[in-house]
Amino acid sequence: MTLRVESSAEYPIVREADVIDVRRRVRKLAQERGFDTFATAALTTGASELARNAWVHGGGGEARVEEVADGLRRGVRLTFRDRGPGIADIERVLAGGFSTIRSLGLGLSGTRRLVDEFEIDSSPGRGTVVVVTKWTRF
Ligand SMILES: Nc1ncnc2c1ncn2[C@@H]1O[C@H](COP(=O)(O)OP(=O)(O)OP(=O)(O)O)[C@@H](O)[C@H]1O
Ligand SMILES: [Mg+2]
Repeated sequence: MTLRVESSAEYPIVREADVIDVRRRVRKLAQERGFDTFATAALTTGASELARNAWVHGGGGEARVEEVADGLRRGVRLTFRDRGPGIADIERVLAGGFSTIRSLGLGLSGTRRLVDEFEIDSSPGRGTVVVVTKWTRF
């Protein structure tokens, strides 16, 4: 099946208020898209963590929020992009519990478990792109 993008919007993440704004928009879209309470909370939490990482670690960036469809499946795809320092050891970060800001280090590893598809592309000096997709259950 080919993925159809049914709507697309982009939001800047340059201040803390933008993180909250992205979180709010993703929650609204997930509800409109027919996600159940649990799936809405999962996607909203993931969006908040990834937006916060783009802001805190990446020095700001943007979020693309898309409604996608694949055959009968309907979902939401989120792309977070920044041009910050990037992540040297992705495996270590995805294992969880690693943080350069003395936080819990659970943002990325936790988000990965909350979504259906998770892709990360990052290397030192090139910035970071994280793409996550969650599908509605029916
Ligand atoms: N967009 C990013 N750009 C550069 N480094 C990042 C980015 N996102 C994550 N990292 C690196 O990966 C580490 C782990 O990220 P993760 O979100 O899992 O935890 P955290 O942000 O440190 O803490 P928290 O649990 O509060 O989210 C960060 O400490 C940081 O070093
Ligand atoms: Mg984090």
